[in-house]
Amino acid sequence: MSLRGKKIILGVTGSIAAYKSALIVRLLVKEGAEVKVVCTSDALQFVTPLTLSTLSKNPVYSTFVADPETGEWTNHVELGLWADYLLIAPLSANTLYKLVHGQCDNLLTAVYLSAKCPVFLAPAMDLDMYQHPSTAENLSKAKSFGLRVFESPAGELASGLVGPGRMLEPEDVIDNLLKWVSREHQLRGVSVLLTAGPTREKIDPVRFISNYSTGKMGYAIARDLADRGAHVILVTGPTSIELNHPLIEVISVESAREMHTECLAKFERVNAAILAAAVADFRPVATASHKIKKNDASMTIELEPTEDILADLGQRKKDQILIGFALETNNELAHAKAKLERKNLDLIVLNSLNDKGAGFGVDSNKVTLIDRHNNILEGQLKDKSQVASDIVDVLCKLLHANNRS
Ligand code: CTP
Repeated sequence: MSLRGKKIILGVTGSIAAYKSALIVRLLVKEGAEVKVVCTSDALQFVTPLTLSTLSKNPVYSTFVADPETGEWTNHVELGLWADYLLIAPLSANTLYKLVHGQCDNLLTAVYLSAKCPVFLAPAMDLDMYQHPSTAENLSKAKSFGLRVFESPAGELASGLVGPGRMLEPEDVIDNLLKWVSREHQLRGVSVLLTAGPTREKIDPVRFISNYSTGKMGYAIARDLADRGAHVILVTGPTSIELNHPLIEVISVESAREMHTECLAKFERVNAAILAAAVADFRPVATASHKIKKNDASMTIELEPTEDILADLGQRKKDQILIGFALETNNELAHAKAKLERKNLDLIVLNSLNDKGAGFGVDSNKVTLIDRHNNILEGQLKDKSQVASDIVDVLCKLLHANNRS
């Protein structure tokens, strides 16, 4: 996979890592891309337009008015629409803020707002800036918009501090881009039903039974699927995660019953379903219409089982790939394999609660993937986005095998 014929805008912002942008241009050109560079005025304090224009063989753009004498201007809309990919490397904390808040006070942010292509960000800033809660929030917002963030590795920073914040090395930026480009259309034309988050089972108008699920794992899968071109129908219980991706259709539900209804309605039309939601197994038999008053007597809530969505889809399955999750605390492999058989699944994702850093609410997870042929893929503790990618890799293989049979 190369970048031959691809039109790439490299955005450069005011960070000391801007000196590495020259090498990025060089590598992009070497991969066969046509490159135009858009710099912020601060970026030009670190690197000269002459270097970047010589390497890219194109003028470097940095202002709306190209020539004040003639009034010639730089058409940001045309530039934005010209690009197949927009890569901003290095991305400063300031420009990151502007991107996620739609602030448009320079040529680069105007090009970004006009662009319809995939956007890649390689943040670069000092340790304390990178670790500031505002930066974390802005990065998470950027991801929720579908922007691809090339995570900053730990290392020695220009300030002398050591930690995360530095930009990926230019070679790694290109590797990440190539990896993404090679997967971009992998699932084009495929539709996937996905469940995520917890469900809430009402006791009365102000109380419910639920669980600790935050939806992070399911939403990471949604993003990975959409990044590979799949159309995703995400049926989600209540979470606080923002997601705004053109290929992800979000259906918000509250209870297991609502999730069940939505999933059954959509299942027939999809190629695969991944059920990552932590569905409540029981709900109150009756929901009080008024807030239950406390009194001295003890209280008992009678529960009944909820619909087993995964098992129902397993029964209805024709040629869809069906993937379920299992959370086991003992005899894990045996229980997961039994669940795979019982619910007629193609793959089961075994979550381990015994590992520190895995499970509810955290950003990392450790899973084991088991298929119908007893192939077992034991994973390491990884960021949930990487775990999502591993799961979707296996889905791709299963869909491929399905198409051949
Ligand atoms: N699941 C579901 N509907 C339910 C309960 C669970 O679709 N009412 C799905 C989950 O989304 C997950 C899988 O089933 O993909 C595993 O759920 P789990 O609670 O571990 O399995 P159970 O079948 O409830 O088995 P057990 O409680 O015996 O472990």
